[in-house]
Amino acid sequence: MGTVRVGLIGLGTVGSGVVEIFSRHREQFRTRAGVDVELTRVCDRDEARFAALGLPAEACTADWRAIAEADDIDVVIELIGGTGIAREVVLAALAAGKSVVTANKALLASNGEEVMEAAAASGVDIMFEASVGGGIPIIGPLKHSLTGNEIASVYGIVNGTTNYMLTRMADDGLDYATALAEAQAKGFAEADPTADVDGLDAAAKIAILASIAFNSRVIFPQVPAEGIRDITPADIEYAAEMGYSIKLLAIARRVSGGIDVRVHPTMIPTSHPLASVNGVYNAIYVVGDAVGETMFFGEGAGSLPAASAVAGDVIEVARHIGSGSLGATGCTCTEHLRVREIGELETSYYIRMLVADRPGVLATTAKVFGDHGVSLASVIQKAASSDAAELVYVTHRACEAEVRAALAEFDALEVVREVAAVIRVQEL
Ligand SMILES: NC(=O)c1ccc[n+]([C@@H]2O[C@H](COP(=O)([O-])OP(=O)(O)OC[C@H]3O[C@@H](n4cnc5c(N)ncnc54)[C@H](OP(=O)(O)O)[C@@H]3O)[C@@H](O)[C@H]2O)c1
Repeated sequence: MGTVRVGLIGLGTVGSGVVEIFSRHREQFRTRAGVDVELTRVCDRDEARFAALGLPAEACTADWRAIAEADDIDVVIELIGGTGIAREVVLAALAAGKSVVTANKALLASNGEEVMEAAAASGVDIMFEASVGGGIPIIGPLKHSLTGNEIASVYGIVNGTTNYMLTRMADDGLDYATALAEAQAKGFAEADPTADVDGLDAAAKIAILASIAFNSRVIFPQVPAEGIRDITPADIEYAAEMGYSIKLLAIARRVSGGIDVRVHPTMIPTSHPLASVNGVYNAIYVVGDAVGETMFFGEGAGSLPAASAVAGDVIEVARHIGSGSLGATGCTCTEHLRVREIGELETSYYIRMLVADRPGVLATTAKVFGDHGVSLASVIQKAASSDAAELVYVTHRACEAEVRAALAEFDALEVVREVAAVIRVQEL
């Protein structure tokens, strides 16, 4: 059994978890997985982290090139994050003939093709299980266990921060600002929560999952993303009355003429398994033509869960080194499917508006929908104040472009005070 020499760059949340797993389980890797993996060198720009993690000084460096370009390293783990230095690290390591394991969704979702091509050119592996769903195995299953399927759809709750906030809003009536402040106080949300609450983190993740599920490259800018900033307890209550839960859903579906990929708050039936995924947990629900429905559930973030996925990747690379099969599983994007524009989407919509409380308003608003071919499945009317009423419409399946055109008309109608919420409804 030869020893596979690993270099780790970035000793933050995930990197420190990887150090812990390697020191705890090296013997188990030998006996159970048949590979001897040595954490040969580590790098961080904050040198105080070395002593804090009990790492020997001779194995530590602040210079990432001393790992990415070193002769005595076989596998490089990149855990810096982002698309700047991390991209340089990954490309330098691949060019130097080292396999790379990374958790970097931002890099994969925007520079995936470049990275895959660099790995193929050097005949080495690039693995990234931790980039989506943290500790949940999803990339491996999509690439391997489910290859006997044509995948029809992937629906994911892939951002724990927003799922925690929506759960608190639904269970305890918190408003958005209070839920965010609580998530920040508990360390679930960053000081700048933009990437989470605006759906950008989830968009990067579904770009990666869609690329693998449909064998066709989807990049981050192609994914329309809307976040949860405008979700209110009132909408969550209406949803519950109608038998729905609101989740920030990352969606990828095979549709006629291409694929439909998007992220937005979505009403899903409370009876669906995804509706009971609460708190910081993540889940990815995959439908294949042979396997039917499957759901992968677990901790989508955190030091040890993400490190668990990184360690699994490192062991697989070590096995490939042992069997001489490095680089055999490269880029799987062999097709070029069109990513549909959001305006082409057909789904149902929940629309809540405040209107003047006068006779004929219901008919006026219904006519606008009718003029755009949007048919209505239900309407609830409640008094909002002495002179205003709240109308809650749910449409049948309608074209997004037509719904948007109707909403633009409402803006110009004197009787419509405000379109307070528009949330897509997904029957799964
Ligand atoms: N955290 C999670 O739960 C989680 C889950 C799944 C995937 N991921 C992904 O895993 C990656 C790492 O995330 P993380 O949460 O561990 O980040 P993190 O805690 O910020 O750790 C990154 C570490 O890299 C260091 N670093 C930055 N630039 C460097 C450079 N040029 N040279 C050497 N070290 C450098 C940072 O130092 P400074 O602190 O001085 O910047 C920090 O110690 C990201 O791609 C993230 O998206 C994270």
